[in-house]
Amino acid sequence: MQYDTVIHGGTVVTPHETFKADVGISDGRIVALAEHLPGGERRIDAGGRLVLPGGIEAHCHIAQESSSGVMTADDYYSGSVSAAFGGNSCFVPFAAQHRGQSIADVIATYDGRAAPNSVIDYSYHLIISDPTPAVLEELPGVFQRGITSFKVFMTYDLMNIGDGGMLDILTVAKSHGALTMVHAENNEMVKWMNRRFAATGLTAPKYHALSRPELAEEEAINRAVSLAKLVDAALFIVHVSTRGGAEIVRREKLAGTKLFAETCPQYLALTRADLDRPGMEGAKYICSPPLRDHATQEVLWQHIRSGTFESVSSDHAPYRADATGKFLNGRDAPYPKIANGMPGIAMRLPYLFSEGVAKGRITLGDFVRLSSSNAARVFGLDRKGAIAPGFDADIAIWNPEETRTVTLDMQHDNMDYTPFEGMEINGWPELVMNRGRIVVEKGMLKANAGDGRFVARKPVDTGAMPGYRAVEFEIAAQFGQEVAP
Ligand code: URP
Ligand code: ZN
Ligand code: ZN
Repeated sequence: MQYDTVIHGGTVVTPHETFKADVGISDGRIVALAEHLPGGERRIDAGGRLVLPGGIEAHCHIAQESSSGVMTADDYYSGSVSAAFGGNSCFVPFAAQHRGQSIADVIATYDGRAAPNSVIDYSYHLIISDPTPAVLEELPGVFQRGITSFKVFMTYDLMNIGDGGMLDILTVAKSHGALTMVHAENNEMVKWMNRRFAATGLTAPKYHALSRPELAEEEAINRAVSLAKLVDAALFIVHVSTRGGAEIVRREKLAGTKLFAETCPQYLALTRADLDRPGMEGAKYICSPPLRDHATQEVLWQHIRSGTFESVSSDHAPYRADATGKFLNGRDAPYPKIANGMPGIAMRLPYLFSEGVAKGRITLGDFVRLSSSNAARVFGLDRKGAIAPGFDADIAIWNPEETRTVTLDMQHDNMDYTPFEGMEINGWPELVMNRGRIVVEKGMLKANAGDGRFVARKPVDTGAMPGYRAVEFEIAAQFGQEVAP
């Protein structure tokens, strides 16, 4: 057989095996794995390198206005380029509905932002902030198009849809096999804390970290899980940042709840002390949920290692430290008026590899699961996330020996800072391929704007998760009546 490309001499890593093999690629797909493959119009020498499924970044904000109208610094070109330099061959940013917008308009807007610009394959999770009956009626159409995950917020006044809104969305999602993602923080607790701090003039960036208590996350995760269980719908908790939150996820998974979760590198790498940097430097570290402490970092690593989290995602939410971003409301704005979020799409995988694999906290197989294969399975990217015949040739070739000190220019994004500046990283992605096209090779971008394609996704696979049966829906069994509520 003739191959377009053969990657030879490398060590292939899957979630369960690590073995020496050549990889044969034709028409953008992996077609062969063997000890030795001859030929190939292009032969890529991967001697001494790891051949991994390309990363799938499943939580990032690209060309997206925040709830208060601040546009991210990265568009689909710079965001996808930065993702690719960080070892990703596919990403799934959000298409965000703001109140009053129809879903058709939202999707058309993001298609216009993504299609001409992305250098890697992409899909969207739909953010729903206004679940009116008309919007709920539009959701099946979105699902048909292959957008099979909907995200909701329990916080931020302009995004929070309330418990009833969540139940409506979970119910529609369940009937289509869609996955509901949730940002879980108790909005009233946060607002109450904000009022207390404002009353005493405590408005510097560091108070952001205290204004969003660990209990606000724990309470909201518990509530989100209860809402999902009531209707037995699948739920994905994004950016878990607390011991208590992770423990709820763990307990519910053991009980068979249809539950998935992620954490993010910033909760492993940084603490609330970073918000107390001199002047307004702390504003660069404002994100929600906020950074916590060293003890929490250790606990989150334990949960990463033991399978509580499907993925480690970046939550790349890039707002520059200038008047276009963090300081849109002035350089000395009080913390509630500073844009929430930090960049990190290029650092997610190098950080996870370096602190995880190189330091012996996780295995290479864990790395593949957390960076790619679990996201493919959970979010319905059925041809991605594996090095196996029939799958897209989405591949990242890593040099496990390369060491780097993090700088802003190696992010390749539109940002003016990186929160990972100066960190020592062991292991780096040298070549990234998407459907057989080289996107990044030896520090050079090889792809063009618009080369990435929209990927229609499949329904969520809840596999062998038994789920939960609320007796209150079993009306016939309770009272001998056949009517369902
Ligand atoms: O602070 C963050 N994470 N900003 C992005 C929006 C969100 O909450 O996910
Ligand atoms: Zn969030
Ligand atoms: Zn986010």
